[in-house]
Amino acid sequence: MRPADLIGFKKIGAQITMLTAWDSISSAIVEAAGVDIVLVGDSLAMVALGHSTTLPVTLDQMIHHTQAVERGFRKKTEEQPLLICDLPFLSYQCGEDKAVSAAGKLLKQTSAAGVKVEGAAPEILKVIKRLVSMGIPVMGHLGLTPQSVNQLGYKKQGEDNRSQEKIFFEALQLEESGCFSIVIEHTPQELASRLKNKLNIPIIGIGAGNDCDGQVIVTADLLGLTEKQPPFAQPLIRCRELCISAIKQWVDEQQNQGANPTTTTFQSEPDY
Ligand code: KIV
Repeated sequence: MRPADLIGFKKIGAQITMLTAWDSISSAIVEAAGVDIVLVGDSLAMVALGHSTTLPVTLDQMIHHTQAVERGFRKKTEEQPLLICDLPFLSYQCGEDKAVSAAGKLLKQTSAAGVKVEGAAPEILKVIKRLVSMGIPVMGHLGLTPQSVNQLGYKKQGEDNRSQEKIFFEALQLEESGCFSIVIEHTPQELASRLKNKLNIPIIGIGAGNDCDGQVIVTADLLGLTEKQPPFAQPLIRCRELCISAIKQWVDEQQNQGANPTTTTFQSEPDY
């Protein structure tokens, strides 16, 4: 699948599914579950690297994780999910040439088919146009944009009329600049719904209600692997607690065995 094929999903009203992955185990799982798009999101700064925001992750780290993600895919190339990677903070905001070089490096060193960037400030629109003209597909990201945490916090966006209209206008500009799709995060449902009806490109929501062309969620939140999930990302299962209790059982068993050691004879086993 290519990024432009997503418009076909929208035309026939098929919901697009996008999940994040940060290593080969997570990508093998989401691919096996049949997801359409795998996003190597810069949320991996928090999920996989333990940072408290997405800001510290570097381009080289994004490349390293994207390479691990693509090694996790098991399907034939043409059946694999579309692989999209976030351009990290300050890899694309400091001029078009720098952005082309960052996105180019990412696409040359990984099999990502496109990049995602946040916001729609005039300089970002210029960057998007330039990337698209270079043959680099771009996904936009509006609403709660985690790279602007120091200005916006992690608060819901578009709560009043003025800010809703601002996001609506920005989305039109992103489409005009050549984005193949837009993620809209943590906004009122009616805004995402209006955008879905107005734009030709797919609107993929996260905490933006059900009336979108598709949905995305951070896989670690969906699985309940993270200690705390955002209010709009309710886990399907509580993997963290399940893992802790299984591992605790193993630890207890080993410790009890240590208290009553039994003699075992070592037998070599075949390689697996
Ligand atoms: O970094 C990320 O995981 C994202 C999703 C929240 C869309 O941008």
